Amino acid sequence: MLTTDKVTVKFGGLTAVNQVSVHVEAHRITGLIGPNGAGKTTFFNCISGVYRPNSGSVIFEGNHIEGKKPYQVNRAGISRTYQIINLFKKMNVLENVLVGMHPRLKSGYLSDMFRTPSQRREEKAAYERAYEWLKFVDLQDHALDPAGSLSYGKQRLLEIARSLASTPKLILLDEPAAGMNSKEKEELDELLKRILELGVTVLMVEHDMKLVMGICHYLNVLSEGKLLAKGTPSEIQNNPDVIQAYLGGE
Ligand SMILES: Nc1ncnc2c1ncn2[C@@H]1O[C@H](COP(=O)(O)OP(=O)(O)O)[C@@H](O)[C@H]1O
Ligand SMILES: [Mg+2]
Repeated sequence: MLTTDKVTVKFGGLTAVNQVSVHVEAHRITGLIGPNGAGKTTFFNCISGVYRPNSGSVIFEGNHIEGKKPYQVNRAGISRTYQIINLFKKMNVLENVLVGMHPRLKSGYLSDMFRTPSQRREEKAAYERAYEWLKFVDLQDHALDPAGSLSYGKQRLLEIARSLASTPKLILLDEPAAGMNSKEKEELDELLKRILELGVTVLMVEHDMKLVMGICHYLNVLSEGKLLAKGTPSEIQNNPDVIQAYLGGE
């Protein structure tokens, strides 16, 4: 589904991502792991259109997407969540999901003062779909709460709901379990399985090794911007380079 070929990103003298080539298979959960500062988020930013790589290509379903704008990447079928939570904290939970759907709606209903009956029908349908996404992540009881009032773990779920609301083929999750307690992590594990069942492919950056090793079909390990290893979770757990650079240092 997604292939990157020798993607490189430089910030001045620092090469944050150094010739990284990975494959993401459709209908799988692929993990991207590595120590802090390894270049994981920067790599995500190249896929989602936040950064244009200095060199290398990003190919999604056969089309080059490197250098495309974030909305173009989203329209092509990729959506994402952020390591640093990126919600509209004063808007309610349901409205935050509507923001994710907005590009797909025909009329700009959020700003329209005068609405035709067909716009009203479209708006009602949008609210209903947004509510369905809240149910999907089990946040329906919080629909009218301000997003900023949710616990950290629930805000991460809301980001996932908003991201799914754009009906992507591929979702990029940047540290979805960060700030979650162990019960929330178990629920996230179940949610990831439901996302796969929807037919959505997952590429995930995550530090929680229990979650990663349990749910990912395939892993890529970044260290200092370079791809250090790739393989199944058991191959990665037994890889001496990985143990040295990352797992052993935990
Ligand atoms: N916008 C930026 N400008 C300069 N340096 C950056 C920027 N973003 C990230 N970096 C640097 O690039 C490296 C990789 O960062 P990042 O991709 O956030 O790593 P990770 O997500 O693996 O923790 C780090 O050394 C970081 O300080
Ligand atoms: Mg990061």
